[in-house]
Amino acid sequence: MMDDKVRILVVDDEKVVRDGCDRVLTGKGYIVLTAENGQQAMDNLGSEPVDIILLDLKMPVMGGEEVLDKVGQQYPDIPVIIITGHGTIDTAVECMKKGAYDFITKPFQVDQFVIIINRAADKRRLEQQARRFQEQNVRNLYDLDLEKSRLKTIINCMANGVMVTNRNMEIVLHNPALMRLLEISGKIENPMPVTRIIENDSLLKTLKEMQSGESPENKLVSQEIRLDNNTIRAISAPAIGPDDGVVGTVTVLEDISAFKQLDEMKSDFVNMVAHELRSPLVSIRQQNSVLVEGLAGPLAEKQEEFLKRGVKKIDQLLELIKELLEIAKIEAGKHVQHLIPLDMEQIIKDTMALMKPRSDAKGIKLTSSFEDLRQIHADPKTIEEVFTNLITNAINYSPDSGTVDVSAKGLGEYIEIKVADTGVGIVPEELPKIFDKFYRVKHPKTREVMGTGLGLAIVKGIVDAHNGKIDVESVPDKGTTFRILLPVIDTDE
Ligand SMILES: Nc1ncnc2c1ncn2[C@@H]1O[C@H](COP(=O)(O)OP(=O)(O)O)[C@@H](O)[C@H]1O
Ligand SMILES: [Mg+2]
Repeated sequence: MMDDKVRILVVDDEKVVRDGCDRVLTGKGYIVLTAENGQQAMDNLGSEPVDIILLDLKMPVMGGEEVLDKVGQQYPDIPVIIITGHGTIDTAVECMKKGAYDFITKPFQVDQFVIIINRAADKRRLEQQARRFQEQNVRNLYDLDLEKSRLKTIINCMANGVMVTNRNMEIVLHNPALMRLLEISGKIENPMPVTRIIENDSLLKTLKEMQSGESPENKLVSQEIRLDNNTIRAISAPAIGPDDGVVGTVTVLEDISAFKQLDEMKSDFVNMVAHELRSPLVSIRQQNSVLVEGLAGPLAEKQEEFLKRGVKKIDQLLELIKELLEIAKIEAGKHVQHLIPLDMEQIIKDTMALMKPRSDAKGIKLTSSFEDLRQIHADPKTIEEVFTNLITNAINYSPDSGTVDVSAKGLGEYIEIKVADTGVGIVPEELPKIFDKFYRVKHPKTREVMGTGLGLAIVKGIVDAHNGKIDVESVPDKGTTFRILLPVIDTDE
């Protein structure tokens, strides 16, 4: 239908009938087209849309029955209403058998005539609506299907492994890359318990926590999994359903073995360069010290000043080299090797005594307290380094005067050591980054503090190697507290 009005083709050789129908139907809101005979009617149908045909049977050129046949073949959807005189009712009934929709006898009773036409128009409208719905339905299904297969193609072509689990920790979606990365051959049927293909405890724990809604909604968790010679990074996130609840998890896995290898090569390189730099620097420093101390003859004031400045710079360089070598050792897992039973109180006291000149110079008070300490298994050299670093930071990143307090106490299976200062503090956005290598917070009050940004990376490396934990709390302009937990020696051993 071109417009919303129903178009009726009246086919009759009698002009009176045509005009009469036109008048009545136009008055009822229909659009009326007319034809004098069957041939004209067929021509009409071929050139413009028609919704209902009113068809006289007895006409010259092409009779109604022939038209009915043709319409039945070419336009089966258009309802045909036969116009018939009393004498031709039998023929009209025949026509109904052949597919006519209804018939109406001449002379028409206007009311009845309109009822029949309205009914035919309703039928036509309903049929067209039904067809439109059906077409739309087919199109929607097609779109949906297309979307699904598109998504499937994308996921299947991804180089990264994808694994989606439902609320019951069952895999409901995965891709070929996942199978490749986890070196699983054969098919896996979805849904399947995730434990059947994932053996890594920490990944399973993460998925469980996400499932139970324990971890924050938008939290991504990144983990490294060792598989034979490969290292795989798994990044997981909870999947949130329409009602905002957790409905499962999505994990993307990536092979990072090549990066790991590169990282090792880079560490080896840094290690080598640092070693090569250290020996000549140490000998330059020794020779300069000889000069500064006047052992090679007296120096003029300016000469001494320049030499001293040079020695200070060399010391900074040696410090950097030392830290680079330490980081390289920690990353290679070779730094913490000789664990012996240790008394932390003594170690902390010794370290604090070493730091005292520095804190005195800044007018900072160093305090400490110890409570219920048990021995731990640790490497004394590296554990000392942890506290040297933390206390040096506490002093460096505090304004003159203030307090640095070291407190240690037993806490179940751990001892807890806190290093608290009353310094410049660290803003929350920076906190997650301070343990990264070379990361230094830009703060107007601590711009002149020399450093490499390696200290905390070393501290964390050493604490991790002792199976300990480290975290930090800080309030800008108030102070910072680093907290370390180290496992005590199990007395049942
Ligand atoms: N106690 C602290 N108070 C305030 N900021 C700190 C403290 N400890 C560390 N930081 C910040 O963390 C950064 C990284 O520390 P670190 O790894 O020891 O490197 P470095 O001291 O060589 O800069 C420091 O540059 C500093 O900005
Ligand atoms: Mg430091």
